[in-house]
Amino acid sequence: MERFRPLSRRGFLLGVGAAAIGASAYAEGHAMRRIAPNRASDAFDPDVDLDLICRRDEASILTGAPTRVWRYSGNLIKGPPNAVTASPDSYLGPLLRFSKGQKVRIRLRNELPEETITHWHGLHVPMLMDGHPTAAIDPGETYVYEFEIRNRAGMYFYHPHTHEKTATQVYRGLAGAIIVDDAEERALGLPSSAFEIPLVIQDRSFDRDNQLAYGGDMHTSMFGFYGDRALVNGRCNFALDVASRAYRLRILNGSNARIYKLCWDDSTPLTVIGVDGGLLERPEKRPYVMLAPAERVDLLVDFSGRPQGSKLTMLSGEFYGLVPPMAQRMMGSDLAIGEEFPLFTAKVTEASNDSWRLPEKLSKIEHFRKEQVANPDQPIPIAITMAHMSMLLNGRPYGDDDLLPFERIPVDTTQLIEIYHEHGGMGGGMGMGGGMRGGMGGGMMRGRMGGMGMGGGGMGGGGMGMMRMMSMAHPIHLHGQQFEIIERSFEGDEDAYASVRDGFIDSGLKDTVLVAPGERVRIVKRFGDFKGRFMYHCHNLEHEDAGMMREYSVE
Ligand code: C2O
Ligand code: CU
Ligand code: CU
Repeated sequence: MERFRPLSRRGFLLGVGAAAIGASAYAEGHAMRRIAPNRASDAFDPDVDLDLICRRDEASILTGAPTRVWRYSGNLIKGPPNAVTASPDSYLGPLLRFSKGQKVRIRLRNELPEETITHWHGLHVPMLMDGHPTAAIDPGETYVYEFEIRNRAGMYFYHPHTHEKTATQVYRGLAGAIIVDDAEERALGLPSSAFEIPLVIQDRSFDRDNQLAYGGDMHTSMFGFYGDRALVNGRCNFALDVASRAYRLRILNGSNARIYKLCWDDSTPLTVIGVDGGLLERPEKRPYVMLAPAERVDLLVDFSGRPQGSKLTMLSGEFYGLVPPMAQRMMGSDLAIGEEFPLFTAKVTEASNDSWRLPEKLSKIEHFRKEQVANPDQPIPIAITMAHMSMLLNGRPYGDDDLLPFERIPVDTTQLIEIYHEHGGMGGGMGMGGGMRGGMGGGMMRGRMGGMGMGGGGMGGGGMGMMRMMSMAHPIHLHGQQFEIIERSFEGDEDAYASVRDGFIDSGLKDTVLVAPGERVRIVKRFGDFKGRFMYHCHNLEHEDAGMMREYSVE
């Protein structure tokens, strides 16, 4: 329990108190074992070689004063020129483009005032190349990553994975997208170059001087950070000019905690062609898609037939039930959780007679077969607990080298894993009784709309079941290879669930799965090729930093 540190102790104005926050985080942070920074190896002959520098910078985000940010900047030493594309007008790191089979060397240089380390979210790499927190480097140091791209085509995500500092480092701007391509995808002829648009969605708050503000209250610690402005590719009010033809929009949720419900304002269904681990087997149409932190979705949007001057706006639509009702009402006063708001607008400004059509078959996924699973009757548990203000997985906070028996996994095996919310057993004290179903009807779920007063029975009696009441959705991420979601079951408020359930795309390969309150999710995952310790954690970054993280020892 003592691992839970309210973020308020670290201060709340990142801009003004930057140096002070860095220092206090050092003083308070739990000491972590360190490995020596990896060096370039003569035996490794890279196809792509690049510098990636973490440094302080300024970005023009709002009108007026520039915003002080931390950012990645890239410099290509060797390889195809499109391997590193700077993100102009943004604090985001450069877009990195790799091909399956390439050997990549990345020289990460730390020019920040505190330690850092970078993780390549979704890429299947050896432990030493994965950005494990023990690999953190001090200011002035360089860590050299060398790995082969083994992933299939898809959109991946690089960001810091610094012990207890991931949330603030990402928040200050350290994040970027990676796009991997392969022969299977190239053969499809999907919209490319100007017609393939990566979109990184994040939320931020600013103070009166245009500097990043980071809520440091109890709510941030409990539910994660929610900004009051939605940014796309580092810009507010993001707008795209498009031609009347097909586009590929590759969307990454790079937010610390916010979950989006993506939908078009004119109710056109979304055409989903891919998720975290690349293309689906065939396109799927959905009224909306739920996108939790670190999840990616690949959309095909056809603007043909739309008149010049017409606009289509991507919204985050209204939803309920992913955070406790009282939090839903309070968090993000200008952009409340689950409230509808616009994300970006596409305006048709050019006619095109391109008549490309989306193929019916997109890719081949090697589905796991039952016989391959090592533990079909004994799933490895991932039990999520938020108890007594502690963020736990399997009843324990993160600890370097603190392994439970089932966290030791033989290499080159395929495992069944069950992710669920644990509401009892942690000495909760409060009644576990009625929970969501009895205590909170639909009316309570819609408390924000109905104007229920705080404390007017919200947190009330023991009969409510404190643990269940505080239950919220957690985006659970596992390092290493992508997994398949094979089962999702739900018990709880059906009305609230109905506002999100059609937005889960479970048919592709995933590395992050949103587990809503009341849900139990079964996944099958391969632990192939690399021995070592690989993290699994909640990708609500405040939860991750507060200890909702564990690791598997693949041995
Ligand atoms: Cu995107 Cu372990 O993280
Ligand atoms: Cu990851
Ligand atoms: Cu969480």
